[in-house]
Amino acid sequence: MERDRAARHRKRTAYAAAPLAACVAAVACAVGGAFLLAPPAFAQEGGPRAGPAAGAAGKKIYQEANCVGCHRWHGGGGGGYGGAALSLRSTALTREQIVEVVRCGRPNTGMPYFERDAYAADGCYGLTKQDLGDAVPGAGVRFLRPREIETVADYVVAEIKGKGDPDHADCTAYFGEGSRVCQQYQRPGSGEAGGRPPGER
Ligand code: HEC
Repeated sequence: MERDRAARHRKRTAYAAAPLAACVAAVACAVGGAFLLAPPAFAQEGGPRAGPAAGAAGKKIYQEANCVGCHRWHGGGGGGYGGAALSLRSTALTREQIVEVVRCGRPNTGMPYFERDAYAADGCYGLTKQDLGDAVPGAGVRFLRPREIETVADYVVAEIKGKGDPDHADCTAYFGEGSRVCQQYQRPGSGEAGGRPPGER
């Protein structure tokens, strides 16, 4: 059994499975956010592949799957009941890695999984629910089909990743022109778009 597992791990890309196995063994995984970060070679972005429909459809999934509840409308993340949701604006993950995180969640963290069969076989990081025990992440508010997972990943890549601090234009793009929610992003008296409240990420 141990040997089978080790063999399975070897088949997986080493950057994901090996540290994860160590992490599971240690149970307490303080470095949560760091353990799946890719080495620089993997962090190269091949450019967004979002289709024209990805924007609206992706935003809908972002809301319905409650990504917005933890990562907030702008993806900046922050503290919450699920732990500190990482910033999707400053994420280094590629589209494929984002797809994997959404499918599988992150063991030992508040990031839920959205693929119904995640961990049923060894399709997530080479691990099953049995392997993970208590470290298995929670399920999302609803499961997403593979296509929906790709669509929301495209949305993250096209609309959120690499965008810097959220500003008034980002806010009205999300909530609509004239939205009161976005007043906080306007510099008082300037009437100009682009104000950034201090500390807002
Ligand atoms: C219940 C709260 C919660 C929900 C809902 C949630 N996330 Fe997360 N997410 C987290 C937390 C917490 C982390 C940080 C995990 C860690 O420490 O590694 C995270 C991490 C991530 C990461 C990894 C970022 C990185 O740079 O490593 C991605 C990508 C991501 N979430 C996307 C999504 C998407 C897309 C959705 C909706 C389909 C979603 N999340 C829903 C809490 C949540």
